[in-house]
Amino acid sequence: MKHYANPLHKVDKDMPWETYEYYSDACVDELHLFIKEEKNVISDIKFRGVGCAIFLASTDIMLDSIINKSIEEASLILDNYKNMIYGKDFNESLLGNLNIFKNVDKNFNRLHCAEMVSKALDKFINKK
Ligand code: FES
Repeated sequence: MKHYANPLHKVDKDMPWETYEYYSDACVDELHLFIKEEKNVISDIKFRGVGCAIFLASTDIMLDSIINKSIEEASLILDNYKNMIYGKDFNESLLGNLNIFKNVDKNFNRLHCAEMVSKALDKFINKK
């Protein structure tokens, strides 16, 4: 609930870090990720964006999960998250609080909201 009502990693203005954006093609919402990477570790990450409660919560929890992780660890979490939301096999022990989105694929509209963070993070990981 706190991740929706008061997201820990949400900012109101752009940060001077690597930036990755994703614009929804299913609704009017958008996500801007600001990533600070030091020595192959995601030392901080913030987001700015507009979206629904599922979007806010999934984005905030994902960012919480990958802060202070190496790019490889973050990539593993991201891959397992995508497998989970798309109804494939995944390693639950890697996902912590992200497991609350386990059945999000049962509602296509909500799936779209929960996948926005993964779409933006894919751009970052795929550049590595
Ligand atoms: Fe747009 Fe959920 S309705 S992100």
